[in-house]
Amino acid sequence: MLDRRAFLLSGLAAYGASARQLFAAGAALQAPKFPTSPFTLGVCSGDPTPDGIVLWTRLAVDPLNGGGMPRQPVEVHWQIAVDERLSKVVKSGRTTASPEWGHSVHVEVSGLQPHRWYWYQFRAGDELSPIGRTRTFPNARSAVDRLRFVIASCQHYETGHYTAYQHMAEEDLDLVLHLGDYIYENPGRDNFVRKHLGGELMTVDDYRNRYAQYRSDPALRAVHALFPFLVVWDDHEVDNNYAGLYQEAGAPVEEFALRRAAAYKAYYEHMPLRRSSIPRGALLQLYRPFSYGTLASISMLDTRQYRTDQPCGDNVQLVCDEARDPRATLLGAAQEKWLLERLDRSRAGWNFLAQQIPMARLDRFPGPERRYSMDKWDGYEQSRARLLRFLGTRKPSNPVTLAGDVHNNWVNDLRLDVDDPKTPVVATEFVGTSITSAGDGSDMSATMKAIVSENECVRFANDQRGYVRFDLTPKELRADFRVVEYVSKPGAPIKTRASFVVEDGRPGAKPL
Ligand SMILES: [Fe+2]
Repeated sequence: MLDRRAFLLSGLAAYGASARQLFAAGAALQAPKFPTSPFTLGVCSGDPTPDGIVLWTRLAVDPLNGGGMPRQPVEVHWQIAVDERLSKVVKSGRTTASPEWGHSVHVEVSGLQPHRWYWYQFRAGDELSPIGRTRTFPNARSAVDRLRFVIASCQHYETGHYTAYQHMAEEDLDLVLHLGDYIYENPGRDNFVRKHLGGELMTVDDYRNRYAQYRSDPALRAVHALFPFLVVWDDHEVDNNYAGLYQEAGAPVEEFALRRAAAYKAYYEHMPLRRSSIPRGALLQLYRPFSYGTLASISMLDTRQYRTDQPCGDNVQLVCDEARDPRATLLGAAQEKWLLERLDRSRAGWNFLAQQIPMARLDRFPGPERRYSMDKWDGYEQSRARLLRFLGTRKPSNPVTLAGDVHNNWVNDLRLDVDDPKTPVVATEFVGTSITSAGDGSDMSATMKAIVSENECVRFANDQRGYVRFDLTPKELRADFRVVEYVSKPGAPIKTRASFVVEDGRPGAKPL
């Protein structure tokens, strides 16, 4: 099985390489004429370092139908300035938007000053993009006193309006972390708030059109243009509950590898990622490290690409032996080693693990029977036990895990042994709710109330839509659960449903 998998992935890698050679060979159109602006998908930025940032755009005059661009590369100019009118340009250059990559543009700017705001813009022919704003990270050794960021996830276009993003655009933030389910792969369905165009996503074009439909929302484009993003995916960027090369519906791995390659390619094309994340066939390097001065280390993790298949038949189940199998893995051996070594070396005051799925042990079945979701860390008990034991013994400073995926807000204690409430809390978990997925919601359903009462590790739960806003200083991490009343119609106000604080040196969140 392993040999077959390696063969499959390397075959696809060769396919990816030839696409890149094509890209290098074409002569770019230098003064293209467009029927309408090609900057319909807006601009965004991401993966900041102390001296650089990735600037992104994609040319598409007909974004919902494959882009509508000529089958030729197009020259794109960019500039970045220290003022919002772009009168003091500090860097500029040219790049090529190629048809092989959906006319997407990824510029890795370097040589910038640390910890400051910048403004940027693209030009193709006579057309100018909107102006975006972004921010570099502080120097790794500088003692920064504050970081303000949000976590967002699960933005199903059909189930609601992006009111949460409208409110996010009003926040005072340094950074947005997107923890996955940026798009959903299902075909358009009637009787929802909005409707996906097209069928179930399978080809690169299908996935491109879906990203374009999501970016057609002005609130999402506005947030992208205001703040740098760190992104990771979950399952729906490819297929619900997929695991490595195992598809939800059990299609043959060969077929699924092609679909995964198409989905990963479109993901790269639409996200502000560095060259190190250029996909090679069905492989894309997404786990990666960030440092925010000495204040915070952020490890962006990928719990989808390398995991073994969900145990015990997936979904919410009684635990079977498979969930405890030491050969099962959620991160894959290489990523797990990388993460633990990084945490061990870290001198940051706060160590964030930004990933997809909840880590706390959560019996999701009201009543005496204990049933767990096999798609979460609960289905990969040995992976979680190794990580929590590491946190308990090596004691990196203030570990905090961030997740999305489940479409509700949770604050959880992560104990050294998740089954023994007498063992110490070694990390704090914040699970952020969805932007729209699951629709309006309510403060807490009866089922949720029962689940909370049956799980000792839960400090808070809420079932409304929104995002979590964090304010970090060396002394404490404050979390505000920002929720909107409804998403089924536009215009909902936002409120802070609850606030928690984690004090330096004391894992576990306390309500404010
Ligand atoms: Fe989701």
